Amino acid sequence: MKSRPIAVFDSGLGGLTVLRALRGRLPQEDFFYFADTRFLPYGDKPEIFLKARGVAIAEALVKRGAKALVIACNTATAAAAEAIRAAVDLPIVALEPGVKPAVSLTRSGVIGVLATTRTLASERFQRLVGNHAPHLQVIPQACPGLAEAIETEGPDSPPVAVLLDAFVAPLAAAGADVVVLGCTHYPWVAEAIAARLPAGVTLLDTGEAVARQLERLLAAGNLQGGGAAGQGKLVVATSGSPQQVIATVDRLWGQKLPVEHWEP
Ligand code: DGL
Repeated sequence: MKSRPIAVFDSGLGGLTVLRALRGRLPQEDFFYFADTRFLPYGDKPEIFLKARGVAIAEALVKRGAKALVIACNTATAAAAEAIRAAVDLPIVALEPGVKPAVSLTRSGVIGVLATTRTLASERFQRLVGNHAPHLQVIPQACPGLAEAIETEGPDSPPVAVLLDAFVAPLAAAGADVVVLGCTHYPWVAEAIAARLPAGVTLLDTGEAVARQLERLLAAGNLQGGGAAGQGKLVVATSGSPQQVIATVDRLWGQKLPVEHWEP
């Protein structure tokens, strides 16, 4: 069991921002990364679809031999984390927007949250804000099209710049001093977001916290891999076109990794 891979999935390659933190903290572990690019973007899909898809992916990952699962997608967590937890018996880390850490960082009392339409519309997000920030001004800024544009056009492309102009301006105008990156695609454009905000605004991304949580869960379940640090293997798979994913990984990560086709 200990030598099995940890499965990580996202609608696409946003979760690579999380995978980087996971591999940095757990370099001896093997990872299986699944990009569900056939259905990218998740952000505008109905909740009922995302729930069924999330459960199907998780069940297939168990069959593939995963020892733990990281839902590296805020949208999939919002729609499907509870259903996935009910369906599979694995240690699971599910990403959600970092509203909780933002509460202890804000001085202006105004927190901006950039995320997909589906994440912000979810009951889970309403609960998160209600539980942790009822006394603060939380500004949910939906970013339709942004994850897809980052992935298909590239983080530095003109279409991404146009979308960022529109989505970041309201947060700057409202005086947010903490901005939560509530979608795993957005750390790819963190610098461009920061450039559109006043100096000193904190951007929050949850990759490191997720890596620490995964480390705790593996230790609690006595599931830590025993390989030498830095020896962990990575397999990348997609439900869409491997050629396209190879090119996107290369653009985002500067590495040409082999990518296999896999349908859960
Ligand atoms: N990366 C995903 C997230 O964290 C969503 C992107 C999409 O819309 O597919 O929410």
